[in-house]
Amino acid sequence: MGKLNSKVALVTGAASGIGRDVCYKFLEEDAVVIAADVDASALEALKKEAPGKGLRLHVIQCDITKERELERLVSAAIQEQGHIDILVNNAGVMDNFEAVADVSNSQWDRIMNVNLRGPFMLMRLLIPHFLHHKYGNIINISSIGGLQGGRAGAAYTTSKFALNGLTKNTGYLYAEQGIRCNAVAPGAIETHIGDAIDYTKLSKDMSELLITGMKLNPRMGKPKEIAEVVLFLACEDSSMINGEVLVADAAWTAY
Ligand SMILES: NC(=O)c1ccc[n+]([C@@H]2O[C@H](COP(=O)([O-])OP(=O)(O)OC[C@H]3O[C@@H](n4cnc5c(N)ncnc54)[C@H](O)[C@@H]3O)[C@@H](O)[C@H]2O)c1
Repeated sequence: MGKLNSKVALVTGAASGIGRDVCYKFLEEDAVVIAADVDASALEALKKEAPGKGLRLHVIQCDITKERELERLVSAAIQEQGHIDILVNNAGVMDNFEAVADVSNSQWDRIMNVNLRGPFMLMRLLIPHFLHHKYGNIINISSIGGLQGGRAGAAYTTSKFALNGLTKNTGYLYAEQGIRCNAVAPGAIETHIGDAIDYTKLSKDMSELLITGMKLNPRMGKPKEIAEVVLFLACEDSSMINGEVLVADAAWTAY
């Protein structure tokens, strides 16, 4: 029997990087997984390559910035599975390391909508369901960029600081009702999140800051190393941990 035996988990941003490895780790631990992502073809690949032929993996295309799509996602998942136990708010996008004076409104809104508003709306949709079942476990994928000032641009940094606040507030306010809410703050992980960064647009100062910062990073992590941390928070091994932001950065922030 796996650590998540018969638990139903909803994972966003499931088709790539950390989300993908969380789905596969959860399947290995006998969960039923609802994998949501905006990228439909990547979801199909996720299903095709899933362990155990992906029999317990259900994929649903969903843009987490659209409330209607989130409502459809949650009602389809509950209709199919009867309930949801675990929410992993993983979908996220990176900015282009812009300092506040250089952030356009559209860039600010794009980052906030995916990294903060989407997770907030999904939590708001699922909390009544969790309260009804007297059980719920929320894991938000944050970043060490939400704990330190120089790991990303102003928009990404702000979104992850706020996500940590939302995590702590939710962890505390529902602690007596069977709901836990924690975050994981990864360091630098080998995924596709940086593919859209246009390094030619970085100022000379920012490029130097990035190079200096990266030199202090002991090593890059693999998505499956973060999936192990998410599993720990998702299962009862971590039953006493609530309202916590768990850093997994190979000591980068210990400097
Ligand atoms: N990779 C890192 O170094 C790192 C470090 C710290 C935190 N994180 C966080 O980890 C999480 C996962 O990122 P990753 O590194 O695996 O990146 P990734 O780009 O490999 O995967 C992100 C997934 O999210 C999906 N997505 C993006 N916008 C979406 C939307 N509107 N609706 C639904 N799905 C959407 C993408 O299609 C993609 O499949 C993010 O929240 C990110 O901020 C990553």
